[in-house]
Amino acid sequence: MGCEGDLTDSLRLKSRYISTDYYRSVVEKYDYFFQEYHEARIPVLMKYLDLKPSHIVADIGSGTGFIAEQLYQLSGLTNPVWCVDPSAEMQEVAGKRKGLYPVQKTAEEFFSDPEINHNQVFDRVICAASSHHFVDPVAVYKGIVRSLRPGGFFIQVNIVDVNHPVFKTAENVIGKYSKNAAKEIQPRLLQEMNLQAKISHQEVTSPTMAVSKSKLYEIYRGRCVSRLYQLSDEQIEEIIKELENEILKDVKDDDRINYNYVFLVIKIHLD
Ligand SMILES: C[S@@+](CC[C@H](N)C(=O)[O-])C[C@H]1O[C@@H](n2cnc3c(N)ncnc32)[C@H](O)[C@@H]1O
Repeated sequence: MGCEGDLTDSLRLKSRYISTDYYRSVVEKYDYFFQEYHEARIPVLMKYLDLKPSHIVADIGSGTGFIAEQLYQLSGLTNPVWCVDPSAEMQEVAGKRKGLYPVQKTAEEFFSDPEINHNQVFDRVICAASSHHFVDPVAVYKGIVRSLRPGGFFIQVNIVDVNHPVFKTAENVIGKYSKNAAKEIQPRLLQEMNLQAKISHQEVTSPTMAVSKSKLYEIYRGRCVSRLYQLSDEQIEEIIKELENEILKDVKDDDRINYNYVFLVIKIHLD
């Protein structure tokens, strides 16, 4: 086991900020808040997933199902994408989309289901911005590997950086924990689990994205990132005030702020 337990505990630290209440509170505006983030990730996922129409795909922590629906449509999938997410509110939105099969469960519950566990069900399994919520990541990753069909693989995409100083200001207030979890702790945990599978990592920089200053503030005030959920209204206003006084002093409300995301793509495929 090595220090697998310690690493799992480090990842678990994050889950104390998360509750079903959090996703209930953001679900209505989720796809609006995440529009740029969604747009930046779809081409990355399309490239790495190499989907064929006959593939059986599972999206773990699928949220509103926006990504799953895009993949379904762009790849001409003939089977619905299994969308696994414990949030009733997220699943309500996903249930209205085309080509999805919503399963209201945590990843832990899903991969302990005898129908899935050891059954080699999926050609592709995806986790996009959801792995930081796993309470038992070791069980989830083992379950994912066992659920893959021969030739199948798993792709995880997490954000590890945004190359504009405006995002650094927020990060200083929030703390750097989450970034380290995505960039360092999770890859180490996967290496130390001795999965019977090959693991590779690649950092990918998105094309240049743009968000207006007013939308950025709306995103902060609406706490669209779960890390912001723990902050009080005063702390959020403190971030905004600091931006207003410094980096965004000369930026008008409708001016676009250009930036790039840096994603860490992790691929796990059977030996
Ligand atoms: C930040 S959202 C990402 C949603 C979507 N993948 C996306 O990229 O837009 C994280 C999602 O993980 C879900 N989640 C929380 N705990 C989970 C768990 N234990 N297993 C699976 N999903 C979980 C939440 O309900 C939420 O919808």
